[in-house]
Amino acid sequence: MQIELKTPIGNTEILTQEDGLQQAKDWIDKNYPDRRIAVVTDSNVDRIYHEQLTKVFRDAMLHVVKAGEESKNLGEIEHLVDKLGEEGFDRNDVITGFGGGMITDLAGFAAASYKRGIKGLTLIPTSLLAMVDAAIGGKTGVNVRAKNDCGAFRPADHILLDPKFLNTLPEREFNAGMAEVIKYAATLDVSLAEDLMKERGEMDLKAILQKSAQAKVNIVQQDVKEGGLRQVLNFGHTFGHAVEKKSDYKLLHGEAVSIGIIYANKIAQKLGKQKPETGEQIKKLLERFKLPTELPEGMTIDDLHEYIVQDKKKSGKEITFIIAPEMGKWEMVKKTPEELVKLAR
Ligand code: GLY
Repeated sequence: MQIELKTPIGNTEILTQEDGLQQAKDWIDKNYPDRRIAVVTDSNVDRIYHEQLTKVFRDAMLHVVKAGEESKNLGEIEHLVDKLGEEGFDRNDVITGFGGGMITDLAGFAAASYKRGIKGLTLIPTSLLAMVDAAIGGKTGVNVRAKNDCGAFRPADHILLDPKFLNTLPEREFNAGMAEVIKYAATLDVSLAEDLMKERGEMDLKAILQKSAQAKVNIVQQDVKEGGLRQVLNFGHTFGHAVEKKSDYKLLHGEAVSIGIIYANKIAQKLGKQKPETGEQIKKLLERFKLPTELPEGMTIDDLHEYIVQDKKKSGKEITFIIAPEMGKWEMVKKTPEELVKLAR
């Protein structure tokens, strides 16, 4: 099945197919015949898929970045731009990001900036988080002082979702990616909640990827630059980002978002906007994927205040906070960080 994301700054075709590397290469050959390709990947993904990758992308320039969030920096962009220049890449060529969210963000930012923007950007995400979230919607960038504080909006032309790549993903990362799927279930697509309650062996991962991608596309195509509506995708992220930072990134993004979702439910209930049964249903989904539902030992709600104040989605004094009044529905409420922390206590 093909999903199309159409935005004023570019369109994306999202395909869910096995044999992902070959499918992505065929798409590039058809849409960018005779153009050069630079494949950007990380050392973990390269270790697992090197043979397959170099067989399918035989003539491509391969650029391997050390695995880990620390590599998402401007220095890595400089290395990549330098290598593209040395190899004679021009504006009509193609960059392909093959990896998790760090790689899709880095490759995307390089595509947005190399010679003020290279024509082709295709992504082959390998983590669940990147498949259902990071790769979709054109947010690219690196970390300088804060996470993603230097970047550009640059939607990929093509994203290939191959559920087979999830077979090599560590379980903790798979579960963390599920926090974003649960976010879509809680706010945008109630049918995902049923899909997620199935046994792991019975779960239709292809359908879960497609429904998640479609949920995100429906929002992003109305508000690609996050003027308003796109903030819906921030459900669980206000407290989630704060917990992630306070834990010094020891918690994975999805694990911190899981805790953030619990606080979004608590706040919704205190405001009289969510029935406890809805909160319980969402919590059950998080627990199914062994996601944390309480703050780590030693961390308190009041510790989070300073990070919530720094929330980059804040405008003026208030934060647009997302709640799920019912499974599959969302509402925005405006609150100051002080009010949010008080409600979360
Ligand atoms: N990850 C949230 C967004 O893409 O807007």
